[in-house]
Amino acid sequence: MPKDYSLVGENAVRAVDEGLADGAWFMPPIDPDRLTALQRRSNGRALAELLLWLGAVVGLAILAVGLWPSLWSVPVLVLYAGLYGGAADARWHEMGHNTAFRTPWLNDAVYYLSSFMMWREPTLWRWSHDRHHTDTIVAGRDLEIAFKRPTTRSDLLKTFAGFGGFALLKRIWLHAGGGRDPEAAEFIPEQEWAKVRREAQLFVMILVLVCALCLAVRSALPLLLVGLPSVYGLWMGVFFGVTQHAGLQENVLDHRLNTRTIYMNPVFRFLYLNMNYHIEHHMFPTVPYYNLPALHEEIKHYLPTPLPNTLAAYRELLGAMGQQRVDESFELDRPVPAVPEAARRQISIAGNGPVVTVEGDRVHISTVGLDVGRARRVDVGDRSFALFRLGPQDYVLTDGFCTHGQAHLAEGAVIDCAVVECPKHNGRFDIRSGDPLRRPVNVPLAIHSVEVARDHRSVSFALAQR
Ligand code: FES
Repeated sequence: MPKDYSLVGENAVRAVDEGLADGAWFMPPIDPDRLTALQRRSNGRALAELLLWLGAVVGLAILAVGLWPSLWSVPVLVLYAGLYGGAADARWHEMGHNTAFRTPWLNDAVYYLSSFMMWREPTLWRWSHDRHHTDTIVAGRDLEIAFKRPTTRSDLLKTFAGFGGFALLKRIWLHAGGGRDPEAAEFIPEQEWAKVRREAQLFVMILVLVCALCLAVRSALPLLLVGLPSVYGLWMGVFFGVTQHAGLQENVLDHRLNTRTIYMNPVFRFLYLNMNYHIEHHMFPTVPYYNLPALHEEIKHYLPTPLPNTLAAYRELLGAMGQQRVDESFELDRPVPAVPEAARRQISIAGNGPVVTVEGDRVHISTVGLDVGRARRVDVGDRSFALFRLGPQDYVLTDGFCTHGQAHLAEGAVIDCAVVECPKHNGRFDIRSGDPLRRPVNVPLAIHSVEVARDHRSVSFALAQR
């Protein structure tokens, strides 16, 4: 009997019972200054690579129109569709994390464009991808497990052929008509459904217009250029995407065991936006794609040896999938370097971390070594805080953990000394007010007033306040 991956089935209950839902994942140590540098985003870099990709898409479209209806247009269309409905996957993904561009609306604009190119409903998939990062490859929790055990050869072929695109279209149709997919209903908050419906209706409307154009010009070409590439171009997205998790362990809380890092050539890395550094991405989703190779250098000593190339990755995953067809419980033996317990999750307290002293109900935190635009984790008993330095003598103390899930905000990205981005799902808070600024967070962050010492070398606050 096939394994149950439904978000509303027995494994969904089991995952919660076994502590796999919203669990605490392994994190390697990293120098906090280096992490801050790696989290910086660049409009110039992201724009240059976006224009290169879009230029290739438009150029191939023009060539295909020129060659249509000769047979020469076929290979051009296949390549065009690969860039449109396949390479869009990596753009959709990066923009969904809001990490490519420094300017948020640019990420959002490209996110909506690439969502349409992939037939992925923008709001639905944002929530789905949050869940994927919370419960990566946990059966019953993660809707983005692309290759379920046992994966047959025909499943693989159907995936490469883009059959999944039709399932997406069916769901769009359902939502456009006001229905709700039961699995999507499991993770999309009630207040988002009106938006989900509007987006689905917009997608349907565009596709209907393209079909009408086909009838008007008596040619399938418009649909081959807009709409159908989301099906017959999926092969390129699958070619890269299959390498991320397929054949690796399920139901573990360590990305080193369920995710692959592979060394790829520069062309693949451009098409795939460096997502071949996939373990690194899952561990630090606040790091933009162009900084993933540098992040890899920082933490590679704590990771399994990367696969040397794409071919080796395919050998590994196809071999594992073959074994799992015979024995569903087969797992690859994947040695991971030992990391001392004391070194784990030491992102913000490594190096020049704060020295905390408690006098009565007053807590004093040394600010020595805490630079402007940086944050420090402060643990006092069973409570945890984040101390932000926003100016030479300007400090803000907040609750440490994100109001959305299990992530410490001192490990997030501080943007323009005003906003903190959560390290787990890229939700954002205004540091001064604690107001949520970007989904998925919607509960404000508690702010605690602090006093700066006369010598400016520490701050203090009253622990009693909640
Ligand atoms: Fe989800 Fe912070 S844990 S945004």
